[in-house]
Amino acid sequence: MIDLSHIDTWIPFREYYSLVYGRLQNNSRAFEIGVYKGASTLYFADLIRCGKKSIEFHCCDLFSLDGDYQKTKKYDLNYWESFYKDVSRFGLKNYINIHKGNSLNILSTFPDKYFDFIYIDGDHRCEPVFADVLMSLKKLRSGGILAGHDESWKSVRCGLRKANLCWNKFPGNVWEALTKKTFI
Ligand SMILES: C[S@@+](CC[C@H](N)C(=O)[O-])C[C@H]1O[C@@H](n2cnc3c(N)ncnc32)[C@H](O)[C@@H]1O
Repeated sequence: MIDLSHIDTWIPFREYYSLVYGRLQNNSRAFEIGVYKGASTLYFADLIRCGKKSIEFHCCDLFSLDGDYQKTKKYDLNYWESFYKDVSRFGLKNYINIHKGNSLNILSTFPDKYFDFIYIDGDHRCEPVFADVLMSLKKLRSGGILAGHDESWKSVRCGLRKANLCWNKFPGNVWEALTKKTFI
């Protein structure tokens, strides 16, 4: 595995991503909302490279400092450069489809029921989380996995409740939606 210790991130997400990788079938499709410097994205891409499954992996981020979310955080101005440098440095270009833009706009370009796994780690405010969940449910196939980060945040839980979701907690502050169609 590649060494990602130089990238600042918020979570020990690795355990969850490894678990999900194990649950995904060959020829699955995954989408991650919220990249920042790519700690989670690069890790998942490296899992795909090291593993034997073919997984089509997409990620999106605003990659700018325009969003309301960014105004409330001390973001590193160069996070796009830092991410893209690492994608190249680690030779992961062929394992990630990078999209620049708002999660709702990007996800809306895919057919409904397209993805097997969607991970929400973008705008953490209640309304945006709610909107990301609704859009993701549309784009997720029946039985697909919907999860995200920062379950401990009140605003994140607010968005999940607003969407009438029940969820399981996983290590690393990860939530995973429980639906009748969830397969574990
Ligand atoms: C918490 S960080 C992601 C962290 C990353 N998953 C990791 O583990 O290191 C949240 C990211 O979501 C992005 N973001 C915020 N609102 C967004 C939106 N509406 N669409 C896409 N990305 C968004 C921000 O630019 C930021 O880089």
